[in-house]
Amino acid sequence: MEERRLGPVVGLGTWNTFRDDARLARAVAEAALDASVRCFDTSPMYGSERALGTALEGRRHEATVLTKIWTPSAEEARRQLADQLAWFGHVEVEQVHNLVAWEQHLPWLEAERDAGRIGRLGVTHYSPAAFGELARALRTRRFHTLQIPLSPHERTAEKELLPLAEELGIAVIVMEPFDSGSLVRRQPTDEQLAPLRAFGVETWPQALLKWVLSDRRIDLVIPATSKPQRTAENARAGMPPWLGTDERAVVERLASA
Ligand SMILES: NC(=O)c1ccc[n+]([C@@H]2O[C@H](COP(=O)([O-])OP(=O)(O)OC[C@H]3O[C@@H](n4cnc5c(N)ncnc54)[C@H](OP(=O)(O)O)[C@@H]3O)[C@@H](O)[C@H]2O)c1
Repeated sequence: MEERRLGPVVGLGTWNTFRDDARLARAVAEAALDASVRCFDTSPMYGSERALGTALEGRRHEATVLTKIWTPSAEEARRQLADQLAWFGHVEVEQVHNLVAWEQHLPWLEAERDAGRIGRLGVTHYSPAAFGELARALRTRRFHTLQIPLSPHERTAEKELLPLAEELGIAVIVMEPFDSGSLVRRQPTDEQLAPLRAFGVETWPQALLKWVLSDRRIDLVIPATSKPQRTAENARAGMPPWLGTDERAVVERLASA
């Protein structure tokens, strides 16, 4: 595995699933760790950081924590980092959430990284309208991870950002693999999923996650769930064999049906 790579693996997103519910966070995080999920994505925006920190107590060494700085204020940004260091001890991947004040934050985040308090730096944005600005941030070569949406319903990143990330050696993290849940509200039949069985796909959510990870430019996909049992189902999609063009096309057809 190249040094830059985080995977290809399935991690866990935490937007809107357990917020500050420490018991639920513990149940989901424990189940995820038991299923060999290692990467946990959070943000000051989600209200889930403290609960995640508590949930990881005793098993923190098994986890890779990805969180974010989300504020235009330099002072508030430093408070966010101080809280994160208190809750997680160390932040493996620190991302500028939705590019908020990224040029202002970059120098002090680099100083924090050089001091060893945080690991690699990244940028995120949920909106294709911001992909031009994301590309500009990546071209500085000062970020080493990129978090963007990618699913059969949202493929804008394939045009410019994925080729750019590949060229620059930037690890790609995929948010919203289920289009924030809309893609899993309706499930194809067992018969429709049959062509994917030989690829280890047992369920429709696994088909969608494997569709993402089968693009070998992707390192990590971070579905969110509030259901502990779903973490293992999702994690199993992070294992080969990967889908080829024909099987990816099957998933695309089922997603658009
Ligand atoms: N700007 C940013 O940086 C940004 C923006 C958006 C998202 N993100 C990150 O990306 C993560 C993922 O995106 P997302 O949370 O918007 O959406 P998502 O992962 O596409 O979808 C989450 C939804 O899928 C459902 N789900 C998960 N596993 C399932 C399964 N096996 N079967 C059926 N349903 C399943 C969950 O419901 P249940 O709880 O009922 O399982 C939840 O409602 C976020 O949590 C966050 O960490 C970052």
